Amino acid sequence: IILGAHQPPNLFANASSMMQPSQRRHMSRNLFLSELSQYVRKLLEKLTRTIEPESRLLSFGSTANGFSLRNSDMDLCCLIDSDQPPLAASDLVTMLGDLLERETKFHVKPLPYARIPIIKLSLGPSQGLPYGIACDIGFENRLALENTRLLLSYASVDPTRVRTMVLFLKVWSKRRKINSPYRGTLSSYGYVLLVIYFLVHVKNPPVLPNLQQIPPLRPISHEDMHFGEHNIWFFDDIELLRQRWRSSNTQSVAELLIDFFKYYSRDFSYNTGVASIRAGLLKKESKGWLNDFDGSRYSETSRDRNRLCIEDPFETNYNVARTVTKDGLYTIRGEFMRASRILATRPERAINALAQLCE
Ligand code: CTP
Ligand code: MG
Repeated sequence: IILGAHQPPNLFANASSMMQPSQRRHMSRNLFLSELSQYVRKLLEKLTRTIEPESRLLSFGSTANGFSLRNSDMDLCCLIDSDQPPLAASDLVTMLGDLLERETKFHVKPLPYARIPIIKLSLGPSQGLPYGIACDIGFENRLALENTRLLLSYASVDPTRVRTMVLFLKVWSKRRKINSPYRGTLSSYGYVLLVIYFLVHVKNPPVLPNLQQIPPLRPISHEDMHFGEHNIWFFDDIELLRQRWRSSNTQSVAELLIDFFKYYSRDFSYNTGVASIRAGLLKKESKGWLNDFDGSRYSETSRDRNRLCIEDPFETNYNVARTVTKDGLYTIRGEFMRASRILATRPERAINALAQLCE
């Protein structure tokens, strides 16, 4: 489907050779999707290397941190390891865009002059791929690779509760149409950070440890700890952590979800607070992220950028929720309240209530 007339390689060469025929028939959708995204990544990497031989394409976002849904997009990052000065990102985007247009069936939209130059690829739904494929290729976005690894590490500490909560929140926020950063609401990444903030800093006893505050086991060089001016250290020895970390919080996913909605309906201090998974609850004022009450001194845009404040774990001067407008926040809070209300009035029929939530 992707290459049109070209001969497609055997997509499932590795996975299917290890299975009995009866198992192969039952190969799960998730495995199919992860094999498919690996295949697409390798194919695009091969094509990219015809232009920039020292480049690598790496997955980040939900296909790399285990939070993907069947209609999630693929986020890819192009890293160039060459000692030679690399091509400017905007030139690479234009050249690679032309090449992908010629060599694949993707609909290609290069955005060479965007704040972060990217190429958007998409393929409409077809019989073998009912959700089609959407893929963004960005360049040298190393912080996104690191924050993907951080989210994956959090998910690995308590896979059942963290993954289930995150996937539920993603389905719910998409169905309720409050997962559109381009339309004034919050990205999936923002919702994942809200979940982790809640499990690390709000729940008492906490469900998760703060991976950015656990000291390293051995001295770490400045280079390994920093990317530019950003401190990217976090405790990533998950095997060791799983042996040592035992949360004394035994709440079920349903109980945690009920508390999550309650907290973000009425307890989080939207006017003054910043949710930081690195440092807990911070003040907008201390970060210079201003809103309403300093309106006289700041422009409308700067006010609208900081209605909801979520600090990025590594790029700490970046508000992940800067896309959320006044109306967007009103809608999101309304949805938190609706969810809280439905769950509070129908706890004995939790399954129906959860289904109704996503209507
Ligand atoms: N990202 C980021 N800063 C943002 C938004 C996104 O660094 N403001 C990076 C993060 O690495 C994140 C990745 O981009 O993991 C993908 O973001 P997003 O598409 O919002 O999250 P996904 O988990 O991929 O959700 P979806 O399944 O909806 O695509
Ligand atoms: Mg994504």
